[in-house]
Amino acid sequence: MYDFTTVHTRRNTDSIKWDWLNEIYSVQHGEEILPMWVADMDFALPPFVEEALIKRIQSGVFGYSYPGQSVTQAVVDWLATKHQTTIDKDWLLYESGVIPSMALALQAFTAPGDRVLVHGPVYPPFRSTPANLNREVVTFSLTEDEGHYSLDFDAFEQALQENIAAFIFCNPHNPGGKVWSREDVKRIADLCHQHGVLLISDEIHADLVFEPFTHTMALSVADHTDHIITCMAPTKTFNLAGLQAAYLIVTDDKKREKLKETATNAAHMGMTVLGATAMKAAYQDGSPWVAELMTQLEENTNYVIKHLSSEIPGIVVLKPEATYLLWIDYRALNVTEKDMMHALLHEGKLALEPGTKYGPEGDGFLRMNIACPLDTVKDGVERFIQASKTLTK
Ligand SMILES: Cc1ncc(COP(=O)(O)O)c(C=O)c1O
Repeated sequence: MYDFTTVHTRRNTDSIKWDWLNEIYSVQHGEEILPMWVADMDFALPPFVEEALIKRIQSGVFGYSYPGQSVTQAVVDWLATKHQTTIDKDWLLYESGVIPSMALALQAFTAPGDRVLVHGPVYPPFRSTPANLNREVVTFSLTEDEGHYSLDFDAFEQALQENIAAFIFCNPHNPGGKVWSREDVKRIADLCHQHGVLLISDEIHADLVFEPFTHTMALSVADHTDHIITCMAPTKTFNLAGLQAAYLIVTDDKKREKLKETATNAAHMGMTVLGATAMKAAYQDGSPWVAELMTQLEENTNYVIKHLSSEIPGIVVLKPEATYLLWIDYRALNVTEKDMMHALLHEGKLALEPGTKYGPEGDGFLRMNIACPLDTVKDGVERFIQASKTLTK
């Protein structure tokens, strides 16, 4: 019913993914490179979101605004139906992004010099956000078994006891595509509570879960929720990142007040009216669109797995349980990341993300974004294969 096949021109639209290749990859031929890196989608936003935005724009007046009751109701309803989680509407705070939300929570509840725990590999801002705020970043590595990640609870509990103020949890996991089990999420949340550690739970990829997996919201299974700050957004799910819309869910009244005060002191303005309009429309009408999106992402994933694995012996592409990001294991090829990136960018003309961007644990891996029409995926796979031939020569 919806269109996931049209190839939209994104070059020269001030797109970070398409127009920043020269700067990010230190090359001079960015216009020849196919970008499959930053985590946004090359699909158009859902038509019902576009209609809502056009309608709002046509109203013509854009004075100061706030996310009204109908936006909040849409969020509450989405979480109830999509994630079987009932929240009180008063628990919501709005922000421009999930990373700004995470930064706000760190500013509100930790102090410079405090120790913040993260797991590796992980999305780079998990490290850079606390580091930029002069918090000490403490990393513990996830256990990796042939590309599958798990958390060693003994090591985790040990780490929590080393004077940690906050733990930032990526659920589902970017870049590994892991959907943490209900048991894992509960144990993580309860251990944080037991050791007096704030849990910042980034659940931005929650809607992008493949069957038969299901996302577990930390606050829905934890014995206590006062220590949990959940950060979510419709921006990954519906490709709205440029509109900047996100929210925090905070059950503890005092913590919410503190967050509000911190946001005011930092002169945060929350969401724009267009971000709020898009959030409401996406959550009100988005379920069928997401179901179709997941079918397309599955087809794209299967294509990459089939063709890369058969054409480049030694490459392992695991099927993610969530997200549109493939975590490709090339360790068996015995090439350095530098050589791999050089071949991809200069021979294949393909931009993937080098695994070490996600921490030292990512060495030997590449992250490939397949949220684009299948024709684009096929082009990307062909470029990857061409690049790999120059590696083995
Ligand atoms: C785990 C995770 N958190 C946060 C973000 C970014 O969120 P925002 O753009 O709302 O700051 C991303 C984007 O890729 C992500 O993967």
